[in-house]
Amino acid sequence: MKFFIDTANLDQIIQAQSLGILDGVTTNPSLMAKEGIKGEQNIKAHYKQICQIVNGPVSAEVISTDFEGIAREGEALAEIDPNIVIKVPMIPEGVRAIKYFSTKGLKTNCTLVFSAGQALLAAKAGATYVSPFIGRLDDISYDGLQLIEQIRLIYDNYGFGTQILAASVRHTLHIIKCAEAGADVMTGPLSSIMGLFNHPLTDIGLKKFLEDYHKSQQGIG
Ligand code: E4P
Repeated sequence: MKFFIDTANLDQIIQAQSLGILDGVTTNPSLMAKEGIKGEQNIKAHYKQICQIVNGPVSAEVISTDFEGIAREGEALAEIDPNIVIKVPMIPEGVRAIKYFSTKGLKTNCTLVFSAGQALLAAKAGATYVSPFIGRLDDISYDGLQLIEQIRLIYDNYGFGTQILAASVRHTLHIIKCAEAGADVMTGPLSSIMGLFNHPLTDIGLKKFLEDYHKSQQGIG
């Protein structure tokens, strides 16, 4: 399973990248706003900076909701860097744009997906990634992970090449469950990735190894 980090914060992207296990980045307008990135030129410059840190797919979301606007915006975003993936909302005009981008060989991420039917539409349009939002489904008492399993089954039934990008991952257990369900990619905050390191027996074991080593070295040299 590929690991994407879901943030526009450069420090966190650098930290995740330094672990050596980061495959890409996803952003959205809320995450960009959180970093105080304003204006078209600053937004493009920020995406470029992200692409210079991570050598992998970087999702940049369009703001337009009509086909012409999405097409124009997406093409401009794709010009920033070959690793830019155009993030398009799951609406009829968005699906039409995904089909258009796919025929032009541009990579897309269909976002705001909350049902298997929507995921089927994204795959039929030729999306590179589909982003089911598991955390937001959990928030309203629907089982987000069940949706990942359902999409996996449907895509495997028909051999769709669209990659399942489990999004709105909120914590470490979500990552494990997405891996069990066969998600191709997960995108989550840095905290969810760092949580994978944690095990008390690792801490206890390392402490004991180091203590024993230092004891055995006493009196030498
Ligand atoms: C990713 O593509 C989404 O924008 C993101 O995962 C949404 O996460 P949230 O539901 O925690 O805001």
